[in-house]
Amino acid sequence: MELVRETSEVRRALDAVRRGGRTLGLVPTMGYLHAGHRALIEAAARACDEVVVTIFVNPTQFGPREDFGTYPRNLEGDLALCLEAGATWVFAPDTATMYPGGADVPATRVVPPSNLTGGLCGAFREGHFTGVATVVAKLFALWQPDRAYFGLKDFQQTAVIRALATDLMFPVLIELVPTVREPDGLAMSSRNVYLTTEARGRARALSRALEAGWQAARGPGASVKGVTSAASAVLAATGGLQVQYLALVHRDTLAPLDDLSAPGVLAVAAVVEGTRLIDNVALDGPSPLVGALQREAVS
Ligand code: PAF
Repeated sequence: MELVRETSEVRRALDAVRRGGRTLGLVPTMGYLHAGHRALIEAAARACDEVVVTIFVNPTQFGPREDFGTYPRNLEGDLALCLEAGATWVFAPDTATMYPGGADVPATRVVPPSNLTGGLCGAFREGHFTGVATVVAKLFALWQPDRAYFGLKDFQQTAVIRALATDLMFPVLIELVPTVREPDGLAMSSRNVYLTTEARGRARALSRALEAGWQAARGPGASVKGVTSAASAVLAATGGLQVQYLALVHRDTLAPLDDLSAPGVLAVAAVVEGTRLIDNVALDGPSPLVGALQREAVS
């Protein structure tokens, strides 16, 4: 595995891929890698001949009062995980490489459609998805991958990136990988490191709420109201959570669901002692707590 920092080295790596008629999988990340990222890299390594993991804490997707400065970083640990998971290259550019004129100067940006960014996280993080779409478009243009891998935990981001690839005609297959959870159901996130023991306990309410909604969708006379009420009851019963949204939306359009006949995703965002957490579950997919409940029954 090789660590690549400059665009000239990217071109060299790409030449080798093309000359050998090899396929390339791209796994974009912001580093501080965990088992969720590992699942992305392993999925890429299973399907592609070569895998590049990108590690770049992208300044343009953070708001002025967000955690860009304190976002956790650990390149050494990340390199070890990438090697084990089967990466060929790790691309860890600096800001000047990704934004040659500077990250905050006017430059070409990719602005995703407002129907995908106006609600959910987009309503609380102005400009966030423009930053995400811009950096992902740059990575697609630079690395020209055959496939790119994203985690379903960032459900709205996956909708934005699918639209980006289609609308800008990037010849890349977007592969979505299920959320990896801690044993008690908490979705893995680099930001979980911010949680104190008490906040960590409260954070479990997100996956519990999604589970309650998922169960309600299976009950007799299930309805949109029934699903959201069951989930919000769990959140309301947990102190110290600032819920930003709890919404049942269409899997592809992200429009609020009127009834349960369309494919729905129940999504939640809450701030726990200053740490913003998100999670979601597809109502027609597996329970978010399937593993956790089995483990609880056994212990
Ligand atoms: O999901 C992330 O880690 C980031 O939003 C991404 C896709 C790497 C873009 O910076």
